[in-house]
Amino acid sequence: MNCRERFLAACRQLPLDRPPVWIMRQAGRYLPEYRKIRSRHTFSQMCKTSELAAEVTLQPIRRFGMDAAILFSDILVISEAMGVSVEYEDGGPRLAPAITTKAALDKLKTPNVEKNMASTFEAIRLVRRQLGNERALIGFAGAPYTLASYMVEGVGNKDLAAIKRLQYKEPELLSALLEQLAQVVTEFLRLQVRSGVDAVQLFDTWAGNLSPSDYHRFALPYSRSIIEALEPEGIPIILYINGISSILEFAASSGATVIGIDWRLNLESAYARIDGSAALQGNLDPLALFASPSQIKAEVHRMHRALSVKTGHIFNLGHGILPSTPLAGAAAFVRAVKELA
Ligand code: CP3
Repeated sequence: MNCRERFLAACRQLPLDRPPVWIMRQAGRYLPEYRKIRSRHTFSQMCKTSELAAEVTLQPIRRFGMDAAILFSDILVISEAMGVSVEYEDGGPRLAPAITTKAALDKLKTPNVEKNMASTFEAIRLVRRQLGNERALIGFAGAPYTLASYMVEGVGNKDLAAIKRLQYKEPELLSALLEQLAQVVTEFLRLQVRSGVDAVQLFDTWAGNLSPSDYHRFALPYSRSIIEALEPEGIPIILYINGISSILEFAASSGATVIGIDWRLNLESAYARIDGSAALQGNLDPLALFASPSQIKAEVHRMHRALSVKTGHIFNLGHGILPSTPLAGAAAFVRAVKELA
């Protein structure tokens, strides 16, 4: 079983030799080879230049040998294609104009995804050529609610005050934005699959901040419609939500093949709650990678032992790897999973 076969088998809950492993945000600033390229280019340039995006996608694979690569890009490339300016600053991304009025919504462009995102599809083809069929390649997009939260707030705002205000004051306006985003995201992911990715991950990072009834109204229907529209492509779909615990069963009802779990709940109880209806991905605390290699190995063993089912689990962190993470921690994590029998 090669790395790609192992990753795909885990998504489908089929028998495995060992669980697969990759790390959210594995192509990023904790890697010296990433920082070297980054010192000569802006983040935006790196996303839009196929050769650079492909190179950075492969960096963590060369260093650590994860089972899957994830395309280097950002969820906000979609907002940019719709005519919103995105600046990546030290404090996080900044978007303008914020979409808080009907006038601003009406000015959003309907992008020609194939043309506007051509460099991303080219990056996928370049990575595929270099990975062959040996390792899996994961594509991704932001889910509508999370994209909308950036577009309405203009920043990554933990309390989501502006978008929640819109939920109460102008739900039709918000629904129209979410609907438009769902269509663009569906097309973007479909074309990623046709360019050669093996699976896609929908990042609904901020949806864990919604009440269950708001999750049903403003997030779930859009994730579900994207997942349904992609069904004919026949690839696994991973749905990730940070803070998923209170809405886990509802998220699983989206039809996703794999559910990404943050570190605030046990994989074992998550599996029981969704009755094995999806595979699970996660969920080591990103801060655990600051521990010693032997402690990290012990955590991996604990997670593996605790899960009674030995398939349908993809090792990962519960959220993205932090830029200050020691390389030895990331190495110890990947190694410990690869040594599992
Ligand atoms: O996982 C990977 O390695 C693939 C690449 C990837 C990036 N962002 C690269 C990136 C992926 C999958 C993302 C997803 C993403 N981007 C999410 C969802 C997942 C999550 O972490 O919650 C969100 C909310 C964003 C928006 C975004 N982009 C933020 C909040 C930031 C700033 C925070 C930070 O880490 O700097 C970015 C910038 C960004 N995206 C960087 C990278 C490597 C850092 C840019 C730099 O080099 O300066």
